[in-house]
Amino acid sequence: MLLAVMAFGRKMRPFLLLLPLLLLSRTRSHNPKRPNFVLLMADDLGIGDPGCYGNKTLRTPHIDRLAADGVKLTQHLVASPLCTPSRAAFMTGRYPVRSGMASRSRVGVFLFSASSGGLPPSEVTFAKLLRDQGYATALIGKWHLGTHCRHNDDFCHHPSRHGFEHFYGIPVTNMRDCKPGAGSVFTGGIQLLVYLPLKLLGVLLLLLAALRHLGLAAVPTGVFAALLLLAAGLLALQFCFLRYYRPLNCFLMRGTELSQQPFSYLNLTQRLTREATNFLHRNAQSPFLLVLSYLQVHTALYASAEFSGKSQHGEYGDAVEEMDWSVGQVLRTLDELGLASSTFVYFSSDHGAHLEERSPENKPQGGSNGVYKGGKGMNWEGGIRVPGLVRWLGVIPAGAELGEPTSNMDLFPTVAKLAGALLPQDRVIDGRDLMPLLQGQTQCSDHEFLFHYCNSYLNAVRWHPQNNTSIWKAFFFTPKFTPEGANGCFQTHVCFCHGHFVTQHDPPLLFDLSVDPRERKPLTPDTEPRFWEILRTIRQEVDRHTETLQEVPNQLSFWNMIWKPWMQMCCGLSCQCDREK
Ligand SMILES: *[C@@H]1O[C@H](CO)[C@@H](O)[C@H](O)[C@H]1NC(C)=O
Ligand SMILES: *[C@@H]1O[C@H](CO)[C@@H](O)[C@H](O)[C@H]1NC(C)=O
Ligand SMILES: *[C@@H]1O[C@H](CO)[C@@H](O)[C@H](O)[C@H]1NC(C)=O
Ligand SMILES: *[C@@H]1O[C@H](CO)[C@@H](O)[C@H](O)[C@H]1NC(C)=O
Repeated sequence: MLLAVMAFGRKMRPFLLLLPLLLLSRTRSHNPKRPNFVLLMADDLGIGDPGCYGNKTLRTPHIDRLAADGVKLTQHLVASPLCTPSRAAFMTGRYPVRSGMASRSRVGVFLFSASSGGLPPSEVTFAKLLRDQGYATALIGKWHLGTHCRHNDDFCHHPSRHGFEHFYGIPVTNMRDCKPGAGSVFTGGIQLLVYLPLKLLGVLLLLLAALRHLGLAAVPTGVFAALLLLAAGLLALQFCFLRYYRPLNCFLMRGTELSQQPFSYLNLTQRLTREATNFLHRNAQSPFLLVLSYLQVHTALYASAEFSGKSQHGEYGDAVEEMDWSVGQVLRTLDELGLASSTFVYFSSDHGAHLEERSPENKPQGGSNGVYKGGKGMNWEGGIRVPGLVRWLGVIPAGAELGEPTSNMDLFPTVAKLAGALLPQDRVIDGRDLMPLLQGQTQCSDHEFLFHYCNSYLNAVRWHPQNNTSIWKAFFFTPKFTPEGANGCFQTHVCFCHGHFVTQHDPPLLFDLSVDPRERKPLTPDTEPRFWEILRTIRQEVDRHTETLQEVPNQLSFWNMIWKPWMQMCCGLSCQCDREK
């Protein structure tokens, strides 16, 4: 690059003189100082929930203030409609298939603290880049990207291995099973996991007994005893696991230490918020990166006494309004410390609202995805189009709205560049720098194509041609809703991505989201003269994309997902403690 400029400069000395000036004027249009970063991530919040996205009855004044003071993205897309892969993409700027964080089976997220999968240490997060640039870095709240690889003290997937010097939060996720009386979803799944080996053992026992009875094989009695013992062991394991699910999976950590096992919901959002504002106070003088990753508004729903029963939308609304309060506390702290205009603030959700969520009394408990179809677990717009707010006072326009496609993977290159870090050169980065769009230097998204994965299966492709208002979206398959005609998979609680759970489409189902954002009217060669041409272009691009994928270890394989007793973290033998005071 430099050589090229020098060679060029020999012929054009006047231009060379101008160069520093040009560079200066370019950096001036940005804030000359590297900003601080506060990245706020909600869990399962739908695009129809915040007031600034059109909700008239949920009160989210602080989130709305971010929209008034910054840019509101109206086509902000997550790289996956599930927590673990979406967060992996957010942290690394890469499609989850590239890091092995996209499941090939039904379950797409980590369920246990003591499982061996997680974000590989070889992945580069924006936190790692910023820490190396001298930033103070903190993750407060939910992680959900693994903890250990082999032993309960290697912390190979832990936030501290991924650039976060400070961690206070939960390694897995908030689940119904974490809160007594809030119902159970995942324990049902665990029972299924145990039933299969039990059934196999049963069949094996019967087979051996028959062989012995018929005199076809001399099966020693010891073998029967061993198999029966194994079955009993499995049952006992399941019993213990269900009984101790809470302490084993729902605990709060400070750094690599257990802080509260199981965690208590009492003033939990207050505690996370205080931790965040304390971090801001401590680091007001240094550049910092704070990722505040809320446990809300995933079930189990909770809110402190101050917010309980105050919203118009039950426990869900209370949780949203408490989270909004917390956003307000963070913004107020930035104001008090005089950091409001030197801090880049982002607010988003890890994917759409979970429509199938129901309370033990069978009342709906998921949020709203506005006008969009579907929700969490699906690549219909309701699952992947999320709130996206960016504020940097004085640098990006206030009160602007941006409808071009953007991705949660874009934060990676955006944050890295603003912090002065170089992007890793040895891997594909799928995110794009957001600043040119946010500052109005370009009108076109760099994402002409986006690939929408359901776990590791390519589900749909979005094509927004440059200089064209059309937004084509082609589905290769769609989830089968249960019961038929519903807006979700109520029988399985979440839609799955393959096998008999989906309907394959050949030719793909094609929509133009610019005129049909609700994905109601699939196009046909009759209604869209360029039908085949559009699909051909999309297929070519899929081929090109697929060629860039590499075989990587599957972090969400059966073996990497299951609970491994030797990897369990416990404070003391009882696995119970409270060091929060
Ligand atoms: C929870 O917060 C409320 C209100 O801020 C406070 O009155 C109460 O003492 C707190 N409880 C605990 C256990 O910290
Ligand atoms: C506002 O949010 C609540 C809770 O998610 C939802 O029930 C309601 O339908 C939403 N309103 C609109 C206009 O989207
Ligand atoms: C899109 O339009 C801009 C300005 O109108 C132009 O500079 C650019 O070359 C166009 N891009 C394409 C792909 O046509
Ligand atoms: C955009 O695409 C549509 C259909 O592919 C085409 O008919 C139209 O001419 C294009 N518009 C522009 C401005 O290129």
